[in-house]
Amino acid sequence: MKEDYSFSATIYDPMLYLALKSIRLAVMNELLEYKDKAILDLCCGTGNQLKLLSKNGFKDLHCLDISEAMLRVAQKNGCPIKIYHEDATKTAFDDASFDIVMISFAVHEKDRNTQEKLIEEARRLIKEDGFILIVDFVFDDKTTILGKMGITLIERMAGGEHYNNFKGYIQNNGLASLVEKGKLKLVKDSRKAFNGVTVSKYQKR
Ligand SMILES: C[S@@+](CC[C@H](N)C(=O)[O-])C[C@H]1O[C@@H](n2cnc3c(N)ncnc32)[C@H](O)[C@@H]1O
Repeated sequence: MKEDYSFSATIYDPMLYLALKSIRLAVMNELLEYKDKAILDLCCGTGNQLKLLSKNGFKDLHCLDISEAMLRVAQKNGCPIKIYHEDATKTAFDDASFDIVMISFAVHEKDRNTQEKLIEEARRLIKEDGFILIVDFVFDDKTTILGKMGITLIERMAGGEHYNNFKGYIQNNGLASLVEKGKLKLVKDSRKAFNGVTVSKYQKR
């Protein structure tokens, strides 16, 4: 399995703490009425979002990532979260295993084919009345110039394939173009970070 985060896994949370704090809280607020539901974080990274949910009384939490280094960090803190080392585009779970599947800050860094597979896998994994929460960048007429500049700078620093995929994602109109022809409908779009980050909720059509 490809390992992109072997160096940055241990510094990921401290490095991004301030930038992500309000977004993590916004995601938790979006989910407050679902504390007993089965929630999967696809491409969970260090598990930072689920650790916050766990500390706030969420019970049935599942965390999946392809990076061993990220998952080693996710295992710390002793929260009762189930952890899976798998490829999020083809997981071993049965259809409709979860009430809620979230994907945060993972879509923009993948090539188009992988982006589509990730979203299709998330759709396969939610129950009929479940939903997908995608947290990722959005550049549109609501996004401020400051938001666009700050996000572009951060992505440029990530460099290489990651930055190229980010540019492709933005040029292709981000999540909107990925789901518009698909089998999902957008039911809520909340914004953070100068309107450059969306917390988007999708249900099956
Ligand atoms: C930018 S990090 C985001 C981590 C976390 N979701 C967050 O909000 O901080 C992207 C994560 O996606 C994971 N990832 C990338 N491709 C993946 C795949 N095919 N299957 C599972 N995880 C993947 C990476 O290992 C990394 O942990």
